Amino acid sequence: MFHNIPRPILDRMHYLEQQDTHDRQDGTLRLQRLRQIPPGTGQFIALLAANAPAGNYIEIGTSAGYSTLWIALACQALGRTITTFEILEEKVTLAQETFRLTGMENTITLIAGNALDYLSQIPGIAFCFLDAEKEIYSDCYEAVVPNLVPGGLLIADNAINHRPTLAPMLDRALADERVDAMIVPLGKGELVCRKV
Ligand SMILES: C[S@@+](CC[C@H](N)C(=O)[O-])C[C@H]1O[C@@H](n2cnc3c(N)ncnc32)[C@H](O)[C@@H]1O
Repeated sequence: MFHNIPRPILDRMHYLEQQDTHDRQDGTLRLQRLRQIPPGTGQFIALLAANAPAGNYIEIGTSAGYSTLWIALACQALGRTITTFEILEEKVTLAQETFRLTGMENTITLIAGNALDYLSQIPGIAFCFLDAEKEIYSDCYEAVVPNLVPGGLLIADNAINHRPTLAPMLDRALADERVDAMIVPLGKGELVCRKV
């Protein structure tokens, strides 16, 4: 999966990594920033995605599609696809460009809109990466967990750098008997939940 990543994907990943770094340094407004996961977190979620059971793969919070590319590497290896949700028009345009330039349009379906309008209608979720506004994490968690297949994974970013804001959702997940959960101290902190 990590060896021989096609050149167009590597080039777009590097371009987005540079954009994200500039965003964080040049005073770009928060909503306009890419706010991507770091590369190490990308590799981590790709490894988890490659080991998820059969079922639907989803992502909540696409931005320009950087994290989607990492998950899509796992999907390609398995012959699966991923659906990713993005609410902001400008980000949708960037993500469309990412998926077109990398030739990943057959592996990735981008839905422009509020993920919360769709989540409860997605059955058999095998893998979900949650990386959106922190205010919707609890609602996303409650919508996704009932629809996870046994062994299905829900990964949520920012479990450490936004721990106070996310505390209700994190505490709920860590005590929730429907899942085995832990917080992995990688990047901004990854909550990993596996449906029992
Ligand atoms: C932290 S960024 C995602 C970064 C991306 N996962 C990556 O690492 O490349 C969060 C994104 O979630 C989007 N978002 C926030 N609330 C959303 C919602 N309710 N439905 C869909 N997307 C949402 C934001 O517009 C923003 O682009």
